[in-house]
Amino acid sequence: MGYFNLDRDIARLILLQRTEIITPKLKNLRKTFGRYFFTNFVSKYLISPISIGARYYEAMHQEMNQLKTHLNFENKKILSIGSGMCGLELLINSNFKDNFFSIIEKNYISKKVTYGWDEKNDEAYNRIDLLNFFLINNGMNKKNFEIFDYDKDNLPVKTYDYVISLYSLDYHYDFLFYKDYFKKILNENTMIIFDTVRPEFFKNVFESVEVIQNEEKTIHSSKRIICKKFKKISCDK
Ligand SMILES: C[S@@+](CC[C@H](N)C(=O)[O-])C[C@H]1O[C@@H](n2cnc3c(N)ncnc32)[C@H](O)[C@@H]1O
Repeated sequence: MGYFNLDRDIARLILLQRTEIITPKLKNLRKTFGRYFFTNFVSKYLISPISIGARYYEAMHQEMNQLKTHLNFENKKILSIGSGMCGLELLINSNFKDNFFSIIEKNYISKKVTYGWDEKNDEAYNRIDLLNFFLINNGMNKKNFEIFDYDKDNLPVKTYDYVISLYSLDYHYDFLFYKDYFKKILNENTMIIFDTVRPEFFKNVFESVEVIQNEEKTIHSSKRIICKKFKKISCDK
């Protein structure tokens, strides 16, 4: 089995980003002592970076295998929104040739991570310096990626083959936060892949919506959709 090189700070962020990586023992601690204690103590001091690295690799491998049955990743420009520590992007990069990733993330860690629907999109659990280090330390060449801070940077205005946002856009915060930006960058051929509990809503936003994964029975409780051809007007409120 493969693994990612990572240290304790990075392992902590991965644990906050991918809830299925939390072991039953740590989940019990979260239940007993609450989310503030979990975010600020358990995730810092009571974790095993090696085991988190192995489980994260396995989870990302499964995501890539699922996505590659629908998408060809050779020679693609990919916009990754809320990609966490980018394990998926690392695996795409090492398994397929000639990709470029623009990555949009947040650059702070909330004091209490709750994972619910975040009306104001305040919650975040990433550090861009650690993300940059993790990518390079795991073999991604600097010329194959760029990282943008959602709150501070001008977002890239380019065309993309794919926009990928797993368990982030419209899963934790409203798609509408990205609506104006999407108006600038999406073209007829761009495919947008994300997880949502309301796939029907997106039939008014895109010409084509295909459900590729149904997570109703798992902790994620959402559907993964691939959308094409943005109807620029109809997603205005
Ligand atoms: C549940 S994690 C999912 C991470 C990753 N996609 C995965 O599947 O492992 C959600 C991520 O979205 C990020 N995030 C929150 N709001 C964002 C925004 N407006 N733009 C980009 N990223 C955002 C968080 O910092 C966090 O890393």
